[in-house]
Amino acid sequence: MSSTAASAPAVHATITIPGTNKTASLPLLSGTLGPQVADIRKLQAQAGIFTFDPGYGETASCESKITYIDGDEGVLLYRGYPITQLAEKSTFLEVAYLLLFGELPTEAQFKDFSHGITMHSMLHEQIRRFWEGFRRDAHPMAVLCGVVGAMSAFYPESVNINDPREREISAFRLIAKIPTITAWAYKYSIGQPFMYPRNDLSYAENFLYMMNAVPPEPYKKNPILERAMDRILILHADHEQNASTSTVRLAGSTGANPFACVAAGIAALWGPAHGGANEAVLKMLAEIGDKKHIKTFISEVKDKNSHTKLMGFGHRVYKNYDPRAKIMQQTCYEVLEELGIKDEPLLDLAMELEKIALEDDYFVSRKLYPNVDFYSGIILKAMGFPTTMFTPLFALARTTGWISQWMEMIADPQNRIGRPRQLYTGAPQRDYVDIARRG
Ligand code: SDX
Repeated sequence: MSSTAASAPAVHATITIPGTNKTASLPLLSGTLGPQVADIRKLQAQAGIFTFDPGYGETASCESKITYIDGDEGVLLYRGYPITQLAEKSTFLEVAYLLLFGELPTEAQFKDFSHGITMHSMLHEQIRRFWEGFRRDAHPMAVLCGVVGAMSAFYPESVNINDPREREISAFRLIAKIPTITAWAYKYSIGQPFMYPRNDLSYAENFLYMMNAVPPEPYKKNPILERAMDRILILHADHEQNASTSTVRLAGSTGANPFACVAAGIAALWGPAHGGANEAVLKMLAEIGDKKHIKTFISEVKDKNSHTKLMGFGHRVYKNYDPRAKIMQQTCYEVLEELGIKDEPLLDLAMELEKIALEDDYFVSRKLYPNVDFYSGIILKAMGFPTTMFTPLFALARTTGWISQWMEMIADPQNRIGRPRQLYTGAPQRDYVDIARRG
């Protein structure tokens, strides 16, 4: 193990294969927090077997110091700091520094960092022309995939992934430009002119400016919405080895450039089981329509043949309330109050749906609770975002987590190409048969 945190193995787990004289001695490694892990890297050599873990639910794919989740306790730490404290006291850009470099910045460090991000927020003018190739009704996630993936064409030096300085420059470029790309994807979809980033605005406000400002009118800042946006970005910034982060790591393990890796992460996040869930929650609430239909909907969810999921509920790791969902619900109230929205039917419906679900044994017995996506869509809709922009917003925030995890992986001396194995249940070896002799 490369880490100072993961102590040298003092104990081993032993696997003995029945009917053979094969025994594997698996070192048990301990981290700073969380369960021990059995190091199975010599399992096949010693016992001639693989492990089997579809979906990797029980598999530690790497060693990391960035984010820790305790799913049973509903705990989420970024570099050891509880998400509740960061959401209340920090800013997204300060959290970005923390995720990237491991410590909260001093004032001087933060000044340099935020200046560096600000000075990278513009896109190469030729990148604007990528948008002309998209239909106006293209899903913004398709645009993000395409534009971010193509950025390596503008920064050929980004392939020098073994140069720490090049890695840091790519990280700055991605964190700085993803708000511009996301806002321009929205503007393009509504036929409005692109708004260029402004260096006098904070990260969150700059994004809201590029999303909402129009050339003929002065832009009116809204500190409450800026704070809500900043907090939403903090909550979505990183989340351990989730599907999209694991995709970024797997792509990165081949030596692909960071823009290609983040584009792969964007593609993975798009799925409704992952980052696409926030958009799916709004569609689900619209389909339910009224509180009087909730019980019928819940029955449909409990009917396996319907393949209907309660979107925004459940989580591979959290078997308790997702701590981000609680903060998101609180932010929901603040935004609706600020916007003077007294009774938001969607919020009322979501609250009633949550109440009924959390009293229903189907959900309680399966430890299904609201996750980060259950309330985020309601806030974003109230802030004027179309549902198609919900997942791009998630991608905007998670770009910082993805690139932090990529940086950690590339610098890890244990980094090697990811290459899972399989349990093969296909045809045994057989000989080719000429077509004339088949059938
Ligand atoms: C995100 O991994 C991360 O960290 C992701 C994320 C991040 O920040 O990166 O947190 C962001 O992706 C949050 C999740 C957003 N997705 C949704 O809200 C979609 C709805 N949720 C489900 O699709 C599901 O809960 C998953 C995909 C999130 C988790 O899938 P799992 O791990 O396969 O679920 P499970 O093994 O815990 O399921 C246990 C049981 C199963 O039923 P049984 O086979 O035991 O009868 O609960 C059922 C599941 O069918 N179940 C649900 C359900 N989620 C699980 N039933 C109804 N509605 C649901 N939402």
